Amino acid sequence: MSHTSPVFDVVIIGAGAAGLFCAGQAGQRGLKVLLIDHAEKVAEKIRISGGGRCNFTNRDLDPAAPHKHFVGQNPQFCRSALSRYTPADFIALVQKHGIAFHEKHKGQLFADRSAEDIIAMLLAECAAGQVTHWQPCVVKNIKFLAPGAYPSSATSYQIDTDRGPVQARSLVIATGGLSIPKIGATDFGYRLAQQFNIPLVERRPGLVPLTFDGTGWAPYAQLAGLALPVQISTGAKKTRMAFDEDLLFTHRGLSGPAVLQISSYWQEGTPLAINLAPTVDLPAALAQGKARSRKLIANELATLVPSRLADAWAQREADWQRPINEASDKALARLAEQLARWELTPTGTEGYKKAEVTLGGVDTKALSQQTMECKTQPGLYFIGEVVDVTGWLGGYNFQWAWASAAACAQAL
Ligand code: FDA
Repeated sequence: MSHTSPVFDVVIIGAGAAGLFCAGQAGQRGLKVLLIDHAEKVAEKIRISGGGRCNFTNRDLDPAAPHKHFVGQNPQFCRSALSRYTPADFIALVQKHGIAFHEKHKGQLFADRSAEDIIAMLLAECAAGQVTHWQPCVVKNIKFLAPGAYPSSATSYQIDTDRGPVQARSLVIATGGLSIPKIGATDFGYRLAQQFNIPLVERRPGLVPLTFDGTGWAPYAQLAGLALPVQISTGAKKTRMAFDEDLLFTHRGLSGPAVLQISSYWQEGTPLAINLAPTVDLPAALAQGKARSRKLIANELATLVPSRLADAWAQREADWQRPINEASDKALARLAEQLARWELTPTGTEGYKKAEVTLGGVDTKALSQQTMECKTQPGLYFIGEVVDVTGWLGGYNFQWAWASAAACAQAL
């Protein structure tokens, strides 16, 4: 060990949502904290989140029932952290910093002005904790030092960086997931876990648009840009998940909140079921149309669903391309049924380029749910998205970042 290396109580790698929050909290507890990030700027994902306004938490989160809004091998793992640092706690912090916010939809809270206000708040919290920032800074190697190497503790880590080596009693990994590599996402956290024999759950993109093969999708590609409220579901009866949200047609497939949400539950090779008119009694509405109208089916349908969809849908069968009063009851029943249960099997996803999160990650079995410390590797902590805890769209992922960071900071 080098006697010239600076010594910190804790080194945190990754200055995103979880890393910044943990650094501020630990610093304010009096710990000497170094926060390292390889990117030029901190918190790039907060900057682009929520369309630039950062959906920073969700009022509907129920810490006692995390399985309602979180996905992972053990959704109960996050219960302890989520109940000790709640949306109300983060809202109080946002209010303390004078940041105006509003609720948009289903408990989702956004900054009124800009996500930059949330970043400035986290940096102010770090400043209050006298956190040292090294950024941009590349971590080259990490070594676990023999017990007793650190002056006041049995364990310590040596972190070799392009600014030289540092030592710390505790090491916190907050390097996030794999989504959006062009703004700094890496697999650093997963590789480090492997270095210390910490098990991983297989990763895949989550909250991601779904794609369909070119020829199968051709009839629907003309609908690109169309958005409408739907009910979307996937899975067998027992494990079925359903969301009532907006769907967006794209050139390559489907997106919008409905599809992002269901993507975290969708298993490759299995179908989705979409009700394209969830608030309409289609059989009754079409029967009424038949009794009183001579319009083309597509035109009648356009009073029930967006007209672009009505036109494209009517093209699917010759029986649907005639005046509604001339249509057979059977043809109308089929139309109603297929609109209410459009079954289709995605061929893939848009991948990490477009995914908002990464499913899977550091196996929660390996971590303490109270502190986020590795059970087999003293002094090593994983927080935020790198862990196998993934929230729904709507502020749940940031709340997990804040809560896991707070749990860790309390224990450092
Ligand atoms: P985060 O990704 O925030 O931070 C990781 C940090 O580690 C980064 O600063 C990165 O540069 C750094 N890093 C990575 N590799 C490194 C290495 N090798 N060395 C050093 N540093 C390294 N969630 C939500 O709740 N509400 C929302 O509105 C949105 N919106 C949203 C939009 C988009 C487009 C995306 C992609 C994601 C969202 N999310 C979201 C998800 C949310 O952004 C995400 O879950 C959190 O940022 C995760 O916080 P972490 O701190 O774990 O990782």
